Amino acid sequence: MFIHIRNLAFNYQGADEQTIKDFNLTIDQGEIISILGESGSGKSTILRLIAGLEMPTSGNIMVGDHCMCSNSTFTQPEKRGVGMVFQDYALFPHMTVEENIKFGLQKWSRKEKKQRVLEVLELVNLQDYRKRYPFELSGGQQQRVALARALAPKPKLLLFDEPFSNLDADLQIRIREELRRILKSTGVTSIFVTHDQDDSQALADRIVVLRSGEIADLGTPNEIFGTDCSFSERLAVKPRVLSRV
Ligand SMILES: Nc1ncnc2c1ncn2[C@@H]1O[C@H](COP(=O)(O)OP(=O)(O)OP(=O)(O)O)[C@@H](O)[C@H]1O
Ligand SMILES: [Mg+2]
Repeated sequence: MFIHIRNLAFNYQGADEQTIKDFNLTIDQGEIISILGESGSGKSTILRLIAGLEMPTSGNIMVGDHCMCSNSTFTQPEKRGVGMVFQDYALFPHMTVEENIKFGLQKWSRKEKKQRVLEVLELVNLQDYRKRYPFELSGGQQQRVALARALAPKPKLLLFDEPFSNLDADLQIRIREELRRILKSTGVTSIFVTHDQDDSQALADRIVVLRSGEIADLGTPNEIFGTDCSFSERLAVKPRVLSRV
């Protein structure tokens, strides 16, 4: 197992009940996991705990051989090798595509940076856009820049928080397919959170259904949704807001 999350619990200060309750999950290298749940179920909180933006009240998280947090250790976010793509992409508006991607590569040599920027731009098919500013790009293109920026430093783990919610329905379907292809081609392990069951079905190898901070269900898309259609058929399914959870 590449990622091992054990007995993770957390509550925000002043909250009446625990936001995350005894969360346990193991993830294989290269696996794509979706955390599916209603608004307020704790999805973003789980990502924040994994990224090191919050400290759990108990439990531990291992990524490879490295302990991210436990009773006695806490690895700072920048030392975790974890990349994050936010809902609003959080691109720097005053920087070009190329500069946005270079931002995470500060310790790399000039030559390495240049090479890596070209590699990730090719991966997301934006070679011709490197001199543009974010406001000169479509929503889908901005999302691909955010993905390229997160992939550039070769993270061990990529986290996505509602990556499709700013895209229109047709683009959402196309981007899912592309995102799965890119993630699988790089072999990066990833976790994305969504409240849209079609996103989960289309993209994930396994789905964690989260309800009030607890795992309500865990399995492959077929196990969770009882469908035996192929990934390509599922990718054609129109997005629909979570109905089962
Ligand atoms: N900074 C905070 N302080 C106190 N409570 C918080 C804070 N952030 C989130 N919460 C609460 O923790 C619970 C889980 O929030 P979280 O943001 O993880 O939900 P979510 O599943 O990501 O929801 P959404 O789909 O709306 O983004 C909610 O009840 C929320 O009100
Ligand atoms: Mg959220």
